[in-house]
Amino acid sequence: MDNRPIGFLDSGVGGLTVVRELMRQLPHEEIVYIGDSARAPYGPRPAEQIREYTWQLVNFLLTKDVKMIVMACNTATAVVWEEVKQELNIPVLGVVLPGSSAAIKSTTSDRIGVIGTPMTVKSDIYRQKIMDLAPQMQVTTLACPKFTPLVESNQMNSSVAKKIVYETLAPLVGKVDTLILGCTHYPLLRGIIQNVMGSSVKLIDSGAETIRDVSVLLNYFQLNRSREAALGHHRFYTTAGIDSFKEIAENWLGQDLNVEHTKL
Ligand code: DGL
Repeated sequence: MDNRPIGFLDSGVGGLTVVRELMRQLPHEEIVYIGDSARAPYGPRPAEQIREYTWQLVNFLLTKDVKMIVMACNTATAVVWEEVKQELNIPVLGVVLPGSSAAIKSTTSDRIGVIGTPMTVKSDIYRQKIMDLAPQMQVTTLACPKFTPLVESNQMNSSVAKKIVYETLAPLVGKVDTLILGCTHYPLLRGIIQNVMGSSVKLIDSGAETIRDVSVLLNYFQLNRSREAALGHHRFYTTAGIDSFKEIAENWLGQDLNVEHTKL
C-alpha cells in the first residue's frame, strides 16, 4: 500500500481528460495535477523548450511527494518520456503506447488515423509504436494546431470550434475506421470530432487508455492507496489564472475542485 498521490502533468487543461478516467476507474487514488496553461500550447514549440518545460512540471510534482507520474500530454511524452522514465525512481507513464495498442485492437480495416499537435505528428511516435506492434497497419497522421487553443480558451462548444474541426479533419474523412485522439485536449472536442468523422469511426482516447496501465502498475508494485485511508484530497495547480482553469475543470469533472495558482 502507498497512500501518496499520483501526479499528472499537462501543458494545460488537456490532462483533465485523463484525470476523469482515473476518478472513474480508481476512485480511491489521490491526485496532484499541474497544468502549464500560461505557456500552452506546447505543440508548436521546439523540442528543447518542451523538454525544459516538462522537466519543470516533473520537478514540481516531485515536491508534492507523488508515488507515480502520468505524463498526461502526448507532446511531452513524445519528446521526454524515455528520459524522465530513466531518471526517476518512481514509475512514469506516457500516453502514447496505450493509445496505439487500443487502436490496433479496434481497427477492422488496418487503417488508423492519428491527430495530434505539430510536435507529436513531427516526432512520428505513434506511427513508430503502431508499426513496431503491427507492421501491416496503415497510419495516417494529421496535425491540428488550432484545437488546443480552442480548448484552453473554453470555446469547445462554439460555432468557431465546429468550423475549425470540420475544416481541419476534412482530409481524413472516409479514410480510416479508427482515429486516435493523440492529444489529451481533444476529448474535450469529442462530440464535434465524432460528427465530422462519422458515427462508424471509433475514436481512441489516448489518455483514458492509459489508466488501465496505471491500474496494472499500481497492482504490480503494490502501490494502491489503502481503502481505509481518508478520502483523497485532490489538488489542482495552474500556472495561469485560476478562474478559467476552474471553470473548465469543474465542468469536465463534475465536482468542486481545489485549484491554486503556482509559478514554476
Ligand atoms: N495536451 C497536450 C498533448 O496531449 C498538449 C497540447 C499542446 O499544448 O499543444 O499533446
